Amino acid sequence: MEINEKVERVNAQYRQRNGLNRGLSNPSLSSFLKKEPINQWLKDSLVDGAWAELGCGEKSLFEEELLPGIENKSDLWGFDLSDVAIDRANSWGRCHYHQADLTKGIPYGPYQILLDGHFLHSLCSLPEVFTVLGHILQSLRPGGRFIGEVMTLHKNISFDSDLYFDFDKRVLFQGSIPIRTILEAREWEDLFKNCGFEIEFFVCQASIKMIPGNKRSEPMTGDPECLRFTLKRPNTKNKGISE
Ligand SMILES: C[S@@+](CC[C@H](N)C(=O)[O-])C[C@H]1O[C@@H](n2cnc3c(N)ncnc32)[C@H](O)[C@@H]1O
Repeated sequence: MEINEKVERVNAQYRQRNGLNRGLSNPSLSSFLKKEPINQWLKDSLVDGAWAELGCGEKSLFEEELLPGIENKSDLWGFDLSDVAIDRANSWGRCHYHQADLTKGIPYGPYQILLDGHFLHSLCSLPEVFTVLGHILQSLRPGGRFIGEVMTLHKNISFDSDLYFDFDKRVLFQGSIPIRTILEAREWEDLFKNCGFEIEFFVCQASIKMIPGNKRSEPMTGDPECLRFTLKRPNTKNKGISE
């Protein structure tokens, strides 16, 4: 893949961390996947088809003991824009890791499960998020699920002084660089529905704050909140989706 400015930017973040991150899968996402009914849905899908994590970084959550039997599942994929992260993941992990710019499409597939590794809100504009959701829907098998967590706005939102949030565009900037797209929960809901997903699980976890920048590791009250979701590609043809 071409190493352009966008790739260099994510590579720089991984180089800064300076080493394997294998012990540090995202704890919030991991706990979400271990909770019911999500964990039971994963168990039910274990032999139904391939799974992929989008924006997996240096370690896919599929490397963890999320459920019994996952250690024997061979069709697990991990995609990320950063070749530095993917090289590190490949150096020790057992998933099929590939560098990919997911705004251009989801490689291979179709998938029974797609996991959002805190990637969706890392996209740089609302149109980009809309496009990627379209790719996700198309790469799921009918009845397949897209599971994840995204940042949401709330009435007490505030951002660190090195960040600027454009409320009209819903884009967070660090200097001139767009780093996050953050919507209100009802805007995420509308977007998911407009893209053709069936919403199966949709819970705003106000108690979980998500840190949008890279200057601190302790969450603060004004940080975006966490929206947990499970979206399904409808099984039937009545929503105009080709099977
Ligand atoms: C917030 S990080 C999360 C990384 C990891 N899943 C975790 O939870 O620690 C978002 C990830 O999305 C990746 N990413 C951003 N834009 C992408 C794109 N267009 N295509 C593929 N991956 C992308 C970044 O490289 C980064 O690894």
